Amino acid sequence: METELLQVESSETSDAQAEALARAAAVLRKGGVVAVPTETVYGLAANALDAPAVEAIFAAKQRPAENPVIVHVADEFMARDCVTEWPATAQALAAAFWPGPLTLVLPKADEIPEIVTAGGATVGVRLPRHPFMQELIRTCRFPLAAPSANLSNHISPTTAAHVQTQLAGRIPLVIDGGAAQVGIESTVIDLTGETIRILRPGMVSAAAIAAVLPEHTVTAGHDEGVLKSPGQLKRHYAPNARLLVMNWVDEADLEQQIAYSRTPHDRVCVLAHTRVVPGTRFGRVSVLPKEPEAYARTLYGELHRCDAEGAELICVEAVPEKPEWNAIADRLSRAGA
Ligand code: TXA
Ligand code: MG
Repeated sequence: METELLQVESSETSDAQAEALARAAAVLRKGGVVAVPTETVYGLAANALDAPAVEAIFAAKQRPAENPVIVHVADEFMARDCVTEWPATAQALAAAFWPGPLTLVLPKADEIPEIVTAGGATVGVRLPRHPFMQELIRTCRFPLAAPSANLSNHISPTTAAHVQTQLAGRIPLVIDGGAAQVGIESTVIDLTGETIRILRPGMVSAAAIAAVLPEHTVTAGHDEGVLKSPGQLKRHYAPNARLLVMNWVDEADLEQQIAYSRTPHDRVCVLAHTRVVPGTRFGRVSVLPKEPEAYARTLYGELHRCDAEGAELICVEAVPEKPEWNAIADRLSRAGA
């Protein structure tokens, strides 16, 4: 299958935009899949109300059927149509964070096919911030099921080029809407239980959520033994190379710490944000931003680049143990697991 790429970002005239919208909507209406930009990461979208269309997502990604897919909506009314309950907590969180990187898990409506929810009774819904994605959902007039547009267990794509690397030849259309602004996947929060649970941390932090819901207890993680979100699986979001999260004093110290691995130095990539080493002895040293939002925006791009360059070992400088770094630390620990 040939994969077509359509640009929507830099179109001064809205002709390219209109063309991309029409083409994407046409593929989706026929039950096809399209890779689309969102503010978090690129998604692989299909009509969420059409079970065979959603199956095509799973096939293209080689995704296991037990992993449920997030449903993307264009407004709150559409979100309410996907669920059977819309509690005050959902109302408050939607008002505070939508459109944005927050997915609400609620009891699913009958219209949502089982394949979307992996047979479960709940559905994750999200109103994304990227204008093209919003316009596409409005044009289609149905919600879009969309997991990240990567092969299962690989790093999520934050550019159309990342999507192409993994899915070219497997899907008919990629919409290039520029680099993702947030850069890591949405916060997933379960609103169906007594306590509110963050199933997957993201850039909407637990503290920000707690501030909106002062009457509620917000906890991290799922019930013991119940796999509520495969985003919780230990190894997920992994690059091909081995990844170590570590601290070092200087280049010699770093070199000493990785000596046992016997990785040729030109196959080592270093991702630093405060302890920047000269880089004369390693394949590459990248300097990432010191501020968590900017760091999140660049992280996956750096990991994709390491893979593309054939890195064998990625040394990532440990990030601060502060709440605003929590989601980043989570992704790093999974990538290194
Ligand atoms: O930012 C994002 O969330 C991106 C963009 C495309 O929206 N999507 C994304 O989808 O990351 P995916 O499929 O790669 O990850 C969705 C996560 C998985 O960990 C899945 O298990 C969880 O959300 N999830 C989806 N529906 C759920 C449900 N009903 N209950 C619990 N977890 C759910
Ligand atoms: Mg994913």
